[in-house]
Amino acid sequence: MQTLHTIADFRRAHAALAGSLGLVPTMGYLHEGHLTLVRRAKAENDRVAVSIFVNPTQCGPTEDLAAYPRDLDRDLALLRHEGVDLVFNPSPAEMYAPGYEAFIDTGRVSQPLEGQRRPGHFRGVATVVAKLFNIAEAQRAYFGAKDAQQVRVIQRMARDLDVPTAIIVVPTVREADGLAMSSRNVYLTPLERIAARCLSRGLRLAEERYAQGERSSDALRGVVRQRIAGEPLAVVDYISLADSETLAEVEGRVTRPALLSLAVRFGKARLIDNVTLGE
Ligand code: PAJ
Repeated sequence: MQTLHTIADFRRAHAALAGSLGLVPTMGYLHEGHLTLVRRAKAENDRVAVSIFVNPTQCGPTEDLAAYPRDLDRDLALLRHEGVDLVFNPSPAEMYAPGYEAFIDTGRVSQPLEGQRRPGHFRGVATVVAKLFNIAEAQRAYFGAKDAQQVRVIQRMARDLDVPTAIIVVPTVREADGLAMSSRNVYLTPLERIAARCLSRGLRLAEERYAQGERSSDALRGVVRQRIAGEPLAVVDYISLADSETLAEVEGRVTRPALLSLAVRFGKARLIDNVTLGE
């Protein structure tokens, strides 16, 4: 496994390898969710590249970039174990040279939900992912369904800008009790960790109600809200049922595939999760 810190070094190392490349973009502090993307990339490509870059342009002014959890040595050991070929770990100055000014706006899909709470976040995500696509020139790139709106933003960017890399979406990887794996779970105290089960349980209850025929968007959001309301440590940011493609909030009955998503705070941790209904 080679670890490259500059764009030129990455391109040279990639050029020396034969076969198709699968790219897995990450911000590091890897867990089983990330590693599941890596294994899928490994199964579908001759070579695998993983990027580890805590992207400053997707962090808002109130989000502490320096506080994002990091452990590069551990990440590299995990990736070596998975048989990864290339790791791209650039500095912020390598990705954003002085005078950097080009940003990608993906329009409507980036505005509600996370986009509304984290202004500029998806502009930063779309921009860094486009840059990573141009640097890696991979045949396929892998993203987790856990970050559902991020997937929509990247698909929009790739479609509208004629990106040749295929976008592969991998189902959310969960802990045994259902909690979606996340680098942010380390911020949970033991009591908050137990309380956080209510997110996946609430979503699963709504899935069951949908399977039984419930189509009222208010009732489906209400099932999740009620389950979470039972946990005093949970502070709801939003619970949304939106059109799966446009992310416009569903009013009245659900007639097309819909994304049921939420953001909930437990102390220092802000957790997100989602399921798709009617896929
Ligand atoms: P990061 O949060 O490190 O996540 C990297 C990738 O792992 C994303 O595609 C994310 O959806 C996926 N992932 C995280 N937890 C997962 C889980 N429990 N199950 C399945 N996949 C999971 O998302 C980012 O980094 C950044 O925004 C990035 C795309 C790298 C751009 O900077």
